[in-house]
Amino acid sequence: MARITASVYTSHVPAIGAALDLGKSGEPYWQKVFAGYEFSKQWLQQNRPDVIFLVFNDHATAFSLDLIPTFAIGTAAQYRPADEGYGARPVPAVQGHPALASHIAQSVIQDDFDLTIVNRMDVDHGLTVPLSLMCGAQDPKVGAWPCPVIPFAVNVVQYPVPSGRRCFALGQAIRRAVESYDEDLNVQIWGTGGMSHQLQGPRAGLINREWDNRFLDRLIDEPAALAQVPHIEYVREAGSEGIELVMWLIARGAMGDVAGGPPPRVAHRFYHVPASNTAVGHLILENRA
Ligand code: DHB
Ligand code: FE
Repeated sequence: MARITASVYTSHVPAIGAALDLGKSGEPYWQKVFAGYEFSKQWLQQNRPDVIFLVFNDHATAFSLDLIPTFAIGTAAQYRPADEGYGARPVPAVQGHPALASHIAQSVIQDDFDLTIVNRMDVDHGLTVPLSLMCGAQDPKVGAWPCPVIPFAVNVVQYPVPSGRRCFALGQAIRRAVESYDEDLNVQIWGTGGMSHQLQGPRAGLINREWDNRFLDRLIDEPAALAQVPHIEYVREAGSEGIELVMWLIARGAMGDVAGGPPPRVAHRFYHVPASNTAVGHLILENRA
């Protein structure tokens, strides 16, 4: 059967993608950000998944105010990097896994979560920047991402957004779905976005280091209690875009300890301010066999 072996959590700052694509990752400002991912790139090579289930948010790129799915699962064979207004990022197209994605859709919908099924979608920085951070720069002419990816888009842009509690429960349903897939696949689940940041209004530029680090602590040690935090606390404490962090609870809900297994091993933890307008947070949690 398929199983979830690890979860990865990371911010998705678009300027990180631009720094990589424009060859600026060696500059002192960016070096401090990328230093936090040196371990992670090696870890990913040593812990190569067969499939990545990547929880991210679309930033009014593939979707718009015309259509706002709360949870959308990508069942396509391929996803192109989106043009977000300055041309598509020069990174490889993302290969999907239609068979596993369709199975997860079937299982999770029958488990009472209403998913939107997406057969065509361009993917924005919310998905491609985490891939770049974990896999390093990729030349689209010669390279490819290391494995197929199932994109799972969450609406955290237009209110109402889903609660942390619902995201955490959804992660548990995703775990059940993966474990009922009848093929030996090593699946990682990634939760992306965050950490504290606010891009507009009187509080633009808000960063809350203390709250972010407490979030990381609690994500590791008491995720069920963390899932009870209401959305208004994210907005108040972590800024309007800090709400992206509820996506991390989907990945965390899919870990083995939530289903009665042993606590995960913390393989890596990183926190850095600033990167563009946000705090960068990053965690790798491994399920113990
Ligand atoms: C920034 C961060 C984001 O998460 C995003 O989606 C867009 C911009 C920023 O730091 O500028
Ligand atoms: Fe964002």
